[in-house]
Amino acid sequence: MSDTTVSGARHTPAGPTAQPETLTPLLRDRESVLVYDRSHTLSPEALRAILEAARWSPSAGNSQPWGFIVGLRGDDTHAAMVELLSSANQVWAPSASAIILTLHQVATDEDHEIAYSDYAMFDLGQAVAHITVQARSMGLQVRQFGGFDHRAAAEVFAVPPHWAVTTGIALGLPAGPDGDAEMPDWLRTRARLPRSRLPLEAFVHSGKFGHTADFLTD
Ligand SMILES: Cc1cc2nc3c(=O)[nH]c(=O)nc-3n(C[C@H](O)[C@H](O)[C@H](O)COP(=O)(O)O)c2cc1C
Repeated sequence: MSDTTVSGARHTPAGPTAQPETLTPLLRDRESVLVYDRSHTLSPEALRAILEAARWSPSAGNSQPWGFIVGLRGDDTHAAMVELLSSANQVWAPSASAIILTLHQVATDEDHEIAYSDYAMFDLGQAVAHITVQARSMGLQVRQFGGFDHRAAAEVFAVPPHWAVTTGIALGLPAGPDGDAEMPDWLRTRARLPRSRLPLEAFVHSGKFGHTADFLTD
């Protein structure tokens, strides 16, 4: 197991609870990167491949209740998105090659006459997970974020009322080992924090909720 990621910007301690060897490398080496290579641009082919991953993810009744607004660094959409970010996210997210705002469908039409699938946000989350893995397979990383003005985003991008602006995704090539040199101290510190997770026992149950499964302790 490597003790750093391809980005070199996030130092992750080795150890089975941090990044288990058992995971496929696409998942093992995924992390929410905060420092991206500002000189990297996404080709249309690469971007389409990443969005295809969302397209082919499963959804309730094949409802495909997701939407994505894509801004590429340097274009007007991207510039408008940067304006909407929380002040903390404004420090790092613009360094990524793309910012994508995600949407999920909440009703069948503008009048909210018929509620859409109860699983729409779940389906969107799964589509985004597919994006994450596809990006990783291409040497890229993403960091998802909720810190932006959702209401303003709906206005700026003319999102119809039966769609909900949900999250943001920063997508890009992780910066090299010294890529964080120009970042403020607080961000550099945060980017280098070890990743941590709850143990399996905290969320895997057997028999009744709260009962640890034998296969976790055998
Ligand atoms: C829905 C969602 C919202 C998030 N919001 C933010 C955010 O606003 N700013 C940020 O820097 N990271 C944000 N994150 C990233 C998480 O902090 C990150 O996924 C978590 O710390 C686990 O780190 P890892 O993905 O590297 O394992 C968000 C992640 C998700 C899934």
